[in-house]
Amino acid sequence: MDYQILKTSVADGIATVTVSRPQALNALNSDFFREMDALIPELGGRDDVKVLIITGEGKAFVAGADIAEMVRMTRAQGQEFSRWGQQTFRSLELLPKPVIAAVNGFALGGGCELALACDFRIASSKAKFGQPEVNLGVIPGYAATQRLPRLIGLGNALYLLLTAELIGAEEALRMGLVQKVVEPDALLPAASEIAKTIASKGPQAVQNVKRVARQGILTDFAAGCALESEAFGSLFEGEAAEGMRAFLEKRPPKWGG
Ligand code: HXC
Repeated sequence: MDYQILKTSVADGIATVTVSRPQALNALNSDFFREMDALIPELGGRDDVKVLIITGEGKAFVAGADIAEMVRMTRAQGQEFSRWGQQTFRSLELLPKPVIAAVNGFALGGGCELALACDFRIASSKAKFGQPEVNLGVIPGYAATQRLPRLIGLGNALYLLLTAELIGAEEALRMGLVQKVVEPDALLPAASEIAKTIASKGPQAVQNVKRVARQGILTDFAAGCALESEAFGSLFEGEAAEGMRAFLEKRPPKWGG
């Protein structure tokens, strides 16, 4: 696939994907989703990619879905555009590799929803978050009504969804929407450091943590605990022996692929 909007660089086991449509503040159009649908399985299948970072070019992370494309949509087209984006973003959650959002600027509407579908978020101190859909007479379509309450609680979520207020990075940190705030120049280095830390851990353990936590939050506590025990046990036929032996022998573990 010939990627026009998504620029990818891979180094040290980390794929950095930059949404690059800065003239429209990286607004998400159909071309973006076509490219993401090709890129996610491509990066998922690469052995040299352990962790993904998603960021934006210029002053925005992503300023939302493309309003110029949406303005002409019929009811059926609107529903389909929403469903398509929901599926694309869900595939980030289902990817067995961790995905970090490095939020460099505006993360609004569908842009905030993209960040929400990542496993966690690191923000530049200049980042701004918001769900301004109600300003346009629409609502989120890429699952912010579902992910935001689960992530930051119903009160915080409804505050953002109903007021359309844009909040800064520190306020996002306070709400639990982001996990770390750094100076703008430090954003990609900080995200890469965190990605490298994760990439150095047991790959099977990392994959299972993501899968069990993500499946578990969509089910009840007992079912989630059952998933955890099953995954815990399965690692004893995998890398657990090496990880624990390495600790007892006071040496770094040598993980398999
Ligand atoms: C299309 C967009 C855009 C968007 C910005 N642009 N956001 N184009 N879709 N979401 C374009 C502008 O039209 C402008 O194009 C250029 O990017 C620069 O934007 P400015 O507005 O001139 O920049 P600035 O004054 O700095 O304001 C930045 C901003 C503002 C506060 C982020 O652009 C803004 O409010 N954007 C819309 C944010 C929004 O409502 N997002 C939610 C969309 S709904 P020109 O050609 O004039 O230079 C959504 C629903 C998701 O996301 C679910 C779908 C199913």
